[in-house]
Amino acid sequence: MVVANKPSVELNSFLLRKLLKVRKAKKSDVHQIYNIASSVGSSTKIPEQGFLVDDYTSNPRLYKNKLLNGINNLNHFYVAEYERIYGFMIAYSKEEWLKDNPNWIEDVYWSPDFDKSRIDNFIVVDKTAIQAGLTGQGIGSIIYKHLLKNLKENGTKTIFAETIISPIPNFASLQFRKKQKYTLAGMRYEDYNNTLYTDLVYYKDVL
Ligand SMILES: CC(C)(COP(=O)(O)OP(=O)(O)OC[C@H]1O[C@@H](n2cnc3c(N)ncnc32)[C@H](O)[C@@H]1OP(=O)(O)O)[C@@H](O)C(=O)NCCC(=O)NCCS
Repeated sequence: MVVANKPSVELNSFLLRKLLKVRKAKKSDVHQIYNIASSVGSSTKIPEQGFLVDDYTSNPRLYKNKLLNGINNLNHFYVAEYERIYGFMIAYSKEEWLKDNPNWIEDVYWSPDFDKSRIDNFIVVDKTAIQAGLTGQGIGSIIYKHLLKNLKENGTKTIFAETIISPIPNFASLQFRKKQKYTLAGMRYEDYNNTLYTDLVYYKDVL
């Protein structure tokens, strides 16, 4: 029974990866995006499967508005779709990021061997989320590849991405950074909603 089931499960995720298309998010996607965010962003945080820090289920209206605002204003808000949406990624240009996080560069404890000239021209991947139960099947990598292609075209030099390691470590995100060959750039403390988070700050050059 187990042996008979295994190939079809693998074939399904293989086929899904082939069929998925990544495109910019549009307004009408907001409900599906919200559902995905809620599936991995609730009050239950599972380190191995990864999680979003916010509890999206706590205030659907507020979070749908935030997502809609991102869809309307950000250049890099992508969804992976085949008949429905399976995952999304939100990235900020340097200007967009520093507008929301004006002290970010000063707040990071940069690693001594990190070449800070990379701070001249970067984007920050803020959130990536794949439907709960479908993580670890390569969907995040497909969206990431699409982002890389766009960044090469527009001349962005560096990608930054943060991963929370405390109070709850995000092991899925750590695995994902390793898979995408990110390097540690530093760390920062982040005071968010009265909780102190410790974030590893990773970078990757867009080559
Ligand atoms: C982090 C995340 C975006 C990565 O996307 P993904 O589709 O799972 O990524 P991939 O499948 O391409 O790669 C994940 C790697 O972690 C490993 N992994 C193992 N178990 C896993 C699990 N349960 N979940 C996720 N990744 C897992 C995978 O094996 C894979 O590495 P490999 O292909 O070399 O084996 C996704 O796991 C996710 O949405 N998690 C919940 C939200 C989150 O934590 N977001 C990141 C913080 S913003």
